[in-house]
Amino acid sequence: MTKIAPSILASDFAHLANEIKDVEEGGADYIHVDVMDGHFVPNITIGPLIVDSIRPHTSLPLDVHLMIENPDQYIEEFAKAGADILTVHQETCPHLHRTIQLIKSFGVKAGVVINPATPAEAIRPILQEVDLVLLMTVNPGFGGQAFIPEVLNKIEQIAAWRKEYDYTFEIEVDGGVNEKTAVDCTNAGADVLVAGSAIFNQKDRRKAIEAIR
Ligand code: DX5
Ligand code: ZN
Repeated sequence: MTKIAPSILASDFAHLANEIKDVEEGGADYIHVDVMDGHFVPNITIGPLIVDSIRPHTSLPLDVHLMIENPDQYIEEFAKAGADILTVHQETCPHLHRTIQLIKSFGVKAGVVINPATPAEAIRPILQEVDLVLLMTVNPGFGGQAFIPEVLNKIEQIAAWRKEYDYTFEIEVDGGVNEKTAVDCTNAGADVLVAGSAIFNQKDRRKAIEAIR
């Protein structure tokens, strides 16, 4: 069954624990946490302190998406704060294997992510090392943007390589996912769908999650 990862970026930060509880009770599989530094992406969001605060409020895996320059500097802190999956952008990692190994050294699952304009070939050499491949279907930085359909070919390509080489990583998509675009993503091979506004902008989160799934 397709996994759903609500992005708390679209939630009410003043009631974060309740918002997380609401989507957990609504059937979410992961909690997606968007970390932005105002450098790699134009927005600033949350750091390890918030991950540490939300950790006791959910038993779901925390899927932490690092949209930050020099992620190596913060990986230990996020791991110790309670991240279960740490995902780094290929565009921010000149020594990608080293960064992926660093994440794993803390006993955390390692993911790699690429922007819509970055070709699938850019992460081909790391595919056998990762637990998750995240394909951005918007340019990262903000919630509520329109889905970029050109990325569907890339989902298919990554899924084809996974099959060909018996890789075991999950394929996740992030950005502009709603009940319509979700169909194309899963048909192309996505296993995990991140959704922010399509879930948190709805009153009934269970219904929203089920509609996307
Ligand atoms: C975008 C973030 C996404 C964002 C998705 O930079 O990485 O996780 O929260 O939001 P929606 O689902 O509203 O496009
Ligand atoms: Zn994200």
